[in-house]
Amino acid sequence: MACAYSRRTVRIGVLTAGGDCPGLNAVIRAVARACIEAGDEAIGIRRGYQGLAERTYLPLDERTVSGILHLGGTILQTSSFEPFREGAVEAVKVAIAEDRLDAVIAIGGEHTMAMTGRLHAEEGLPLIGVPKTIDNDVAGTDRTFGFDTAVQTATDAIDRLHTTAQSHDRVMVVEVMGRNTGWIAVHAGLAGGADWIVIPEVDTPIEEIAAGIRRRHERGKDFSIVVVAEGALLCVDGERRQIRASEETGDYGYPRLGGIAVALAAELEPRTGFETRVTVLGHVQRGGTPTATDRILATRYGIKAYAMAKAGELGAMAALRGSEMVAIPLSEVEGVKTVDLAYLELARTFFS
Ligand code: F6P
Repeated sequence: MACAYSRRTVRIGVLTAGGDCPGLNAVIRAVARACIEAGDEAIGIRRGYQGLAERTYLPLDERTVSGILHLGGTILQTSSFEPFREGAVEAVKVAIAEDRLDAVIAIGGEHTMAMTGRLHAEEGLPLIGVPKTIDNDVAGTDRTFGFDTAVQTATDAIDRLHTTAQSHDRVMVVEVMGRNTGWIAVHAGLAGGADWIVIPEVDTPIEEIAAGIRRRHERGKDFSIVVVAEGALLCVDGERRQIRASEETGDYGYPRLGGIAVALAAELEPRTGFETRVTVLGHVQRGGTPTATDRILATRYGIKAYAMAKAGELGAMAALRGSEMVAIPLSEVEGVKTVDLAYLELARTFFS
């Protein structure tokens, strides 16, 4: 009988880096189960690249990956440890050589993909990337797992806000995550029937939103839902401003976003005369059980990454293109994938 993979057995390390998202455990499970099935070995690496530098491992056997498919978070835990920044590149090289890892699968966002690509290109390390994030902003792939769950969570919240907004004739401003992209905002806004969606990719003057809400209320609709992405700019009187939760930066030096909904509401209320309330969804979007769609997508990513490791297809990222799982060079994974504006155009049909 033909065998899909070579008969050489391999040892594959798996790590999760950067922020967590629903579906990480489904990828870990898929890699581990594929290894067990083929007589290969899967080694869990704790807390991202930190665990590789420190050689802190968790064997991924039948027992450790049992019952985790539906769990949010990551059984391996995660960190934003950067081998280059921490002077730990040598430690990572030693770990891979001495612990005889044929490949390490790094599951992470765009920053992790860039770092993993650099470790492969500059140090020749046997690395493979798997893109994750609720933000759906990793270039080179159509969809990251975690995104569908975040959109569903945000949509459920918008549904709930609709009924209370309607009861009280209120404008509800809902802030969703997404860093510098509006994927979650546009998708949840479309699914939830938002009356306006504000995203980082498109400057929206406050007066435009206020006029839309006023028109809507003139038509007899006494409530409105505005969905705003955390990275959207506040555009008032010709000035554009990013609102931050604090002056501190996040682990990879990203600005810590948050607060745009409060700022937007404060500008909207006097312009419309309607009571305006704010809901910030925050990390609720990142936690909890992955949707069925995310579990399946994450499982496909895990199986593809395993096949790439087994075939020695290194320095590459598993990617979804259309309905196909493919391998693309990590060197081609550049920048951030911004929203397809056709979705915003579609949503505009329902504004005001
Ligand atoms: O990248 C995922 C994400 O949840 C973004 O949407 C958000 O801006 C950021 O992470 C928050 O990161 P942290 O949990 O480190 O504050």
